[in-house]
Amino acid sequence: MNTKVTSVKGPLPGPKSNDLFARWSRVEAQCAGYQAKVAWDHALGVLVTDVDGNKFIDWTSGVLVTNVGHCHPDLVKAVQEVATKLLNNYECLHPWRVEAAEKLISVLPPHLDRCFFLTTGSEVTESAIRIMKRKTGKFEIISFYGGFHGRTSAAATAGGLSGPKKGYGPMLPGAIRVPFPYCYRCPFKADPATCDMLCLDYVDDSVRANSTGSLAGLIVEPYLGAGGFIFPPQGWLKRLEQWLRGRGLLFTLDEVQSGYGRTGKFWAMQWEELAPDLVTIGKGIGSGVPASAVAGRAEVIGTLGHGEMSSTMGGNPLASAAVAVVVDIMKREHLAENALRIGKLMMARLLEIKEKSPYVGDVRGMGLVMGVELVKDKKSKEPAPDLTRKLIDVAAENGLLIGSVGIFGNVIRVAPPLVITEAEAHESLDIFEKALSLL
Ligand SMILES: Cc1ncc(COP(=O)(O)O)c(C=O)c1O
Repeated sequence: MNTKVTSVKGPLPGPKSNDLFARWSRVEAQCAGYQAKVAWDHALGVLVTDVDGNKFIDWTSGVLVTNVGHCHPDLVKAVQEVATKLLNNYECLHPWRVEAAEKLISVLPPHLDRCFFLTTGSEVTESAIRIMKRKTGKFEIISFYGGFHGRTSAAATAGGLSGPKKGYGPMLPGAIRVPFPYCYRCPFKADPATCDMLCLDYVDDSVRANSTGSLAGLIVEPYLGAGGFIFPPQGWLKRLEQWLRGRGLLFTLDEVQSGYGRTGKFWAMQWEELAPDLVTIGKGIGSGVPASAVAGRAEVIGTLGHGEMSSTMGGNPLASAAVAVVVDIMKREHLAENALRIGKLMMARLLEIKEKSPYVGDVRGMGLVMGVELVKDKKSKEPAPDLTRKLIDVAAENGLLIGSVGIFGNVIRVAPPLVITEAEAHESLDIFEKALSLL
């Protein structure tokens, strides 16, 4: 019995997609990243149908957004209901806002007892940095090479990728950037088995050399997302936190991408029982409906007084209804647990694929966020961005949608919606393996 859910009828782009891409290029600036030539029409769970009727399994979740699955019926229903009642009233109170905040606080560690809502990940980064500066009266922020916190000013300054900064400088003063433990390409050429995380000593050295004595705090992702799905060794985040505590510095953890079950626990911070002062949250919080939040300890977040933080769309009824129902879905469907279970299965197969393929240099990840780093040659580890783009096309032609990230643009992101089943995982891995063999 054929249980395959994917089907691609002909070469891509299909005729309707082709027409849409042509129209698009005539009216909107073409600044999006590389993508398969597929114009999406509708999606449910992990299955995407394009405007030509082709069906694909999605390994992108948008960009790690649709954690509860594309167009989850309960989410759609909640949004439809609120849309008939109230769409926006700026900061004025409405029931959905309170419910969203209560639900969000209920799934956070108890010390994070206050939140406020904005709309994008970049916005919440800006706010967290503003709070760290306001609370301490200082202006220096430590952040990491390869980090990504958004494209607005403070976010791009804290980031460690060149793209968001290109042609934009000078960036904000007070940035102290230090290397992240990218063990596959260790900046210190150290052996992770024996180095005892010497990159942490370098944080100390950098601060000693660069700080004017005005350190406010630090922002870090639990793993580098846009930087290439790079995971620090176990214990590194905890030791970083201890280093901060020893100096009385504030700690912001950017869970915009890693939260909402992605790593196999509701929050990535739960793996090492971290206790950040502030957490930035986005993407999965609305699972497709634009929403974001900053959560923190009351005495830290409360540094902003009345009238000192808002955004036109933040906490609007539509977003709030989504935030509330997404928490319910996550819990009821045990999606973090599913991410852990299916993630293990997918990781095991990806490691087998790595052994067979001459191009897969590294496979790493947790739960349902895994990176497959492509190289021209396993010995030299020379990044293979051209091959990565080709793989995106070949995978789509065979029914799988993937995207890329990374400092060198050579890391495939394996990040399907958390509702993916075992059968869908295997079907998508079969396609991935076949696409690799066709390069
Ligand atoms: C870890 C992290 N922080 C912040 C952002 C910025 O989010 P947004 O694109 O919603 O502004 C992103 C987006 O990819 C992200 O991955």
